[in-house]
Amino acid sequence: MAVLKLAVLISGRGSNLQALIDATAKPDYPAKIVAVISNVPDVAGLDRAKTAGIPTQVVNHRDFKSREEFEKALDAKLVEAGAQLVCLAGFMRLLTPWFVDRWTDRLINIHPSLLPAFPGLDTHKQALDYGVKLAGCTVHFVRAKMDHGPIILQAAVPVLSYDSESDLAARVLAAEHEIYPVAVRLIAENRVNVINEKVLVTEA
Ligand code: GRF
Repeated sequence: MAVLKLAVLISGRGSNLQALIDATAKPDYPAKIVAVISNVPDVAGLDRAKTAGIPTQVVNHRDFKSREEFEKALDAKLVEAGAQLVCLAGFMRLLTPWFVDRWTDRLINIHPSLLPAFPGLDTHKQALDYGVKLAGCTVHFVRAKMDHGPIILQAAVPVLSYDSESDLAARVLAAEHEIYPVAVRLIAENRVNVINEKVLVTEA
């Protein structure tokens, strides 16, 4: 099977990037990372990529006059790298419909809640404030509406009575690191189909 070429977009720590780096290092994994691009210079995620010998780039949104110009530059880098699937991994810029449409069904995100619950920022605070007993994470195709789009995979974790935000975030993050590589594998194996804005996964 041909190996799917991934680009990973980051803005910071890059622990989900690390999960993808570790997965793609396994000989039977059907995808490889061809580019890691950050919109913020000098972040830890860039060092993770460099350590793994993966080409990195910084496309700093502050260097551009408009969101559109920033996204055109980003798009050009992705095309140049030959990316077939773009994985957002803690990428903290909202993307315009132009970019999202260009990469429809080739652009995925991981969000630390069980969508459609608790989109946006402060998801763990939102979950604790609401008092839910299950939290989790979601890998989904990106649509123009933030934290919205066909759901590929989710994982649930318990919320415990005296959890702080950081307790819950750590438990959810461990689940993120499990499911992001699984979702990418499913896509690379051509088992993910979007039909009427819902994902159907075919059996192996
Ligand atoms: C993760 O919780 C991810 O779900 C969210 O941003 C965080 C990024 O963390 N979109 P990391 O940079 O992957 O460590």
